[in-house]
Amino acid sequence: MIHPIHVLGSPALRTVCEDVEADSPEFQQLVDDMLETMYAAQGIGLAAPQIGRTERLFVVDVSHMEQDIRDAGGEMPPQPMVFVNADLAEASESETDFEEGCLSIPDVHETVIRPERIHLRYRDRSFKEHTEQFNGILARVIQHEYDHVDGVLFVDHLSGLRRRLLRRTLADIREGRVSASYSLYADGVGLIEADPDA
Ligand code: NI
Repeated sequence: MIHPIHVLGSPALRTVCEDVEADSPEFQQLVDDMLETMYAAQGIGLAAPQIGRTERLFVVDVSHMEQDIRDAGGEMPPQPMVFVNADLAEASESETDFEEGCLSIPDVHETVIRPERIHLRYRDRSFKEHTEQFNGILARVIQHEYDHVDGVLFVDHLSGLRRRLLRRTLADIREGRVSASYSLYADGVGLIEADPDA
């Protein structure tokens, strides 16, 4: 099932998520819904709070960036990837900048500085434990999604100046004056149907 994606201003996006304690058919359905919702919105990542959930869960699929990842000498694990109860064990001191966007903040793209490499402990959707190093685009996307399960959004990383310049745009989104090619949920407004022209 495809869920509407909560936009900036929804309290769900500020929730610090909780570990998933046990597997269940409901949890597996949630993972499927997250993947379906991400693909429908043509996203490369989606975190549980973006559909109003509080599980420490996010999904990633960077398949269409495979060539870029390989060109940069990176490895491409099988996609999609499902991250349950992720824990950032280590982040490199070296940083990179990259232009980010977010399905919850439509049409806003800004350069964000983040650590270049991370070590992450997580479970996959079968609850198998992994500890892996990520770099390049995957490290970037994972950190963005990891932030979501801590209630953090990429615009929180921007300088005061950039945020001031975006003030009106962000206020419009918060107040529900926003549309996207996928359906949205805005606090105080409710469902905003997908706009194929957006
Ligand atoms: Ni996001």
